[in-house]
Amino acid sequence: MSVGRLYGLGLGPGDPELLTLKALRLLRAAPVVAYPAPVDGDSFARRIVAQWLDRGQREIAIRFPMRPGPPPADIYRVAAARLAAVLDRGEDIAYLCQGDPLFYGSFAGILDWLAGDYPVTIVPGVASPMACAAAASVPLVQRDESLVVLPATLPEAELAARLAASEAAAVVKLGRHFAKLRRVLAELNRLDAAVYVEHASLTNQRVAPLAAVDPASVPYFATALVRRRRPEEA
Ligand SMILES: C[S@@+](CC[C@H](N)C(=O)[O-])C[C@H]1O[C@@H](n2cnc3c(N)ncnc32)[C@H](O)[C@@H]1O
Repeated sequence: MSVGRLYGLGLGPGDPELLTLKALRLLRAAPVVAYPAPVDGDSFARRIVAQWLDRGQREIAIRFPMRPGPPPADIYRVAAARLAAVLDRGEDIAYLCQGDPLFYGSFAGILDWLAGDYPVTIVPGVASPMACAAAASVPLVQRDESLVVLPATLPEAELAARLAASEAAAVVKLGRHFAKLRRVLAELNRLDAAVYVEHASLTNQRVAPLAAVDPASVPYFATALVRRRRPEEA
């Protein structure tokens, strides 16, 4: 008997209409659906496609502790072993990924363990920098500019150095790190050029000048876009 195929399905930033046709087709065809979820509570990825999980598919929640710092060392190995047991029975698995599977996604950790032994198909999804730029109606990059993506979890000095060197940046994983980012942008005199986007594409989407955002109100699903204005745009 041949082994099953692992599908990493990018689901986009949250609005179900931003799913690709391919992701939807593969989701509906898979007998088993797996997804990351917090230790207690719902999976954001599952919520995006909940309306299509109506075929009695078996579900596997991979629980990740959503706390600061790296995940427990063996979490991906244990998760991969659970999925491998299904694949060994010849069943395909659709692993649901919010945004894009390979852009800061848990799928990459699973892939490390399974890619050599099982066939894999990955369907890209709309990643958060793209969704946030669209929500804010601002260009991410133009002409010969380059874009850096930075996690706000970096130490303050490192974040400052990388932002100072960037023409355009998307800063992800804001949450409790927002106040630090705001301080850094103020020191670099780039606060006025920063846009804040929370829950892009969802009904509770919020777009605001970053300078106007109360740090106490910032959730994890928020991104800052910081672009150095070109002289002709000043
Ligand atoms: C672990 S990363 C996952 C990124 C995801 N795989 C993607 O392709 O966008 C989570 C971070 O992405 C950003 N993010 C994801 N979805 C977002 C959304 N709908 N609106 C704003 N930021 C989002 C936030 O900065 C969040 O902290």
